[in-house]
Amino acid sequence: MAKNSSMREQIFWDRLSGKLNTKRESHEITVNKINSFLNKDDEILDFGCAAGLITNDIAKNVKWADGIDISPKLVEAANKNANEEGIENATYFSLDLFNENLKKESYNVIMAINVIHFLKNSDDYIQRFYDLLKPGGIFISLTVAMKEEFHFTRISIPFLGAIGVIPKMHYYNKNQLKEITSSNGFKILDIEEFNFTKYPQYFIAAQK
Ligand SMILES: C[S@@+](CC[C@H](N)C(=O)[O-])C[C@H]1O[C@@H](n2cnc3c(N)ncnc32)[C@H](O)[C@@H]1O
Repeated sequence: MAKNSSMREQIFWDRLSGKLNTKRESHEITVNKINSFLNKDDEILDFGCAAGLITNDIAKNVKWADGIDISPKLVEAANKNANEEGIENATYFSLDLFNENLKKESYNVIMAINVIHFLKNSDDYIQRFYDLLKPGGIFISLTVAMKEEFHFTRISIPFLGAIGVIPKMHYYNKNQLKEITSSNGFKILDIEEFNFTKYPQYFIAAQK
């Protein structure tokens, strides 16, 4: 079980495993944008990899990809998808980011796509990403900025989070996303607004 997460969250993501095993409309654009920061010798970690749909595509352009996720069902689906696609350089684990088997300064790139707003103590995680990256390594995130728009879901989501129906979601704006990245030691290289959903999302690439 991940350090800052609960069994309830794991059950929630296990239940969503079918839905998360389908490529989003934004898939190609997201993969192309990530690929623009990768090199063929890179060893990468995809944190919150779900069914490995993005990871498997990224693995085609790098040396090695590890994917970790809180949901054992999604990890199982990710391994199955990699096998079916004949991808041999991607491996998936249901592993806590703070597990000692993950070694400091071992990755060239760490990705956290559509997951940071679900983390209780995002600073702890971003600091850990920093530690796990090699010097000069790249941290890539894509995070929804729910603080920037008002929609009905801004009322229903906290309510559903409070009664435990969905994991609590954290509301960020662009500046806060930049701040949690740079205050943990990263130098921001690129920031781009994506508009795939009713709330803006920010793609951030930052260097250790
Ligand atoms: C919205 S999905 C995004 C999946 C994938 N990155 C993508 O963009 O398609 C969020 C994923 O993060 C995982 N997750 C949430 N909290 C996590 C944690 N504390 N540790 C590891 N994975 C987590 C969930 O199980 C889920 O697969």
